Amino acid sequence: MTLTHPSILETRRLAWSDEAGCRAWARALAARPGIGGATIELRGPLGAGKTTVARHLLRALGVEGRIKSPTYAVMEPYELPGGGLATHFDFYRFDDPREWLDAGFRDIYAGPGLKLAEWPERAGEMLPLPDLRLWIDVQDDGSREVTVQALSERGVGLIA
Ligand SMILES: Nc1ncnc2c1ncn2[C@@H]1O[C@H](COP(=O)(O)OP(=O)(O)OP(=O)(O)O)[C@@H](O)[C@H]1O
Ligand SMILES: [Mg+2]
Repeated sequence: MTLTHPSILETRRLAWSDEAGCRAWARALAARPGIGGATIELRGPLGAGKTTVARHLLRALGVEGRIKSPTYAVMEPYELPGGGLATHFDFYRFDDPREWLDAGFRDIYAGPGLKLAEWPERAGEMLPLPDLRLWIDVQDDGSREVTVQALSERGVGLIA
């Protein structure tokens, strides 16, 4: 048996005509039970809107102040007002999956809190499976078509 193809338990298709659509979805997700311990992958081409989803979700969870793209820092941690943690990763600049171990990201990933990951494919196969995987596709008119896959029971609950 091979574990390289995770089972997708549920799939949802969303259409965001503009950023307000993204924000509304992020707000609804922020209100779901289980969000505080979720791992969410944000996939899609450059400029698809991955950071934008992360920002709206963190904002909806009560993060105030600037929410930077972690493209250069790789990781931005946040304390949530309710007492939880959130970590926003961007693995775009990873060129060697060993960095995953060397930089200690495995321990952070195994720790508590919400994890949001842009460019997870660049972190290599060490990255644990997420609860949700978003695929963001930009349409000719600038709207976004989004496929959301749940890969765990927590993920199923988040999009139910
Ligand atoms: N749902 C949306 N509708 C319309 N415009 C959007 C939407 N989401 C993001 N944008 C716009 O697209 C641009 C790129 O967004 P963003 O930085 O979130 O992309 P990204 O996927 O994180 O890119 P990168 O791969 O460089 O990290 C921004 O100008 C943002 O305002
Ligand atoms: Mg980004």
